[in-house]
Amino acid sequence: MMDVRQFIEEKVREIKKRVGREKAVAACSGGVDSTTATIIVKRAIGDLLVPVFVDTGLLREGESEETIKTLKLNGIDVRYVDASKRFIRALKGVRDPEEKRRVIGRMFIRVFEEIAEEVGASFLVQGTIAPDWIESGDRMRDRIKTHHNVAGLPKHMKLKLIEPLRELYKDEVREVARHLGISVAERQPFPGPGLAVRIAGEVNKERLELLRRASRIVEEEIENYAAKGRIAKPWQYFAVLLPVRTTGVHGDIRSYGYAVAIRAIESSDGMSGEYSKLPHELLEKISIRITNEVKEINRVVYDITNKPPATIEWE
Ligand code: XMP
Repeated sequence: MMDVRQFIEEKVREIKKRVGREKAVAACSGGVDSTTATIIVKRAIGDLLVPVFVDTGLLREGESEETIKTLKLNGIDVRYVDASKRFIRALKGVRDPEEKRRVIGRMFIRVFEEIAEEVGASFLVQGTIAPDWIESGDRMRDRIKTHHNVAGLPKHMKLKLIEPLRELYKDEVREVARHLGISVAERQPFPGPGLAVRIAGEVNKERLELLRRASRIVEEEIENYAAKGRIAKPWQYFAVLLPVRTTGVHGDIRSYGYAVAIRAIESSDGMSGEYSKLPHELLEKISIRITNEVKEINRVVYDITNKPPATIEWE
């Protein structure tokens, strides 16, 4: 076990020395990693830090309003930048999962470079943690997937990176977050490329909307069950929109609709995991609600694959 207090003190000292009188922008998503990283850097350089929340248009329902509120609650007053149109436009026609990740990584940096130039910052703070760069591969390891904040970055970047959590695993980050009194310490992870990696195939507005509605139902029902103490909250739980259409029947009428997969997984660090053994009754409830409330979806399947061989996200 690490000494959390010492870790924070060391990072604060290190960052203060490195940044000096220069400015930094922080990429805040409202998740535990970036919130923790931002608070550590803020301790080090105070007002020289400009925290920014970029809306990619790839977030869950109500997530941008929620994020701004939560960050404020944690003492981070973010600048809100709506880049959703740019992200969606850049993803047009992109089907390959790795290409999607590269497009998103490059767009993130472009947007942050613009903001940095505007405020005169030379550093970028990111909440990168160990699994992000391990899975993104290095000379020793194969690339499993291009994490948007690591291998998704362009080769030539103007901004210098500050990544105080780079060596930590998720459970360690949560420990640091708890020590700092951060309210999102127990939130489920959400990937930087957002819903784009939960839509197999092309990302567009219509598909994003369907996935948002299905995802909300999955989260609501699972959290409901957990709140009643009927299950322990899984490590992650969400919906995935599949690139197939299948035949169904609604009333007496044939339907030809979308299919979604429910993914719920137990893990301690995201590096490996076992699919959650959710009660059938709960799965059925989710399935009925999704097909009733989202009429474009007529089939729901449950992903029963562990990691490995599957990854947690479908792309
Ligand atoms: P996989 O899908 O590789 O995911 O089993 C492991 C954990 O990482 C999250 N994930 C990401 N997080 N940027 C992130 O910040 C990314 O590009 C990314 N891809 C996956 C995933 O949600 C899981 O918790």
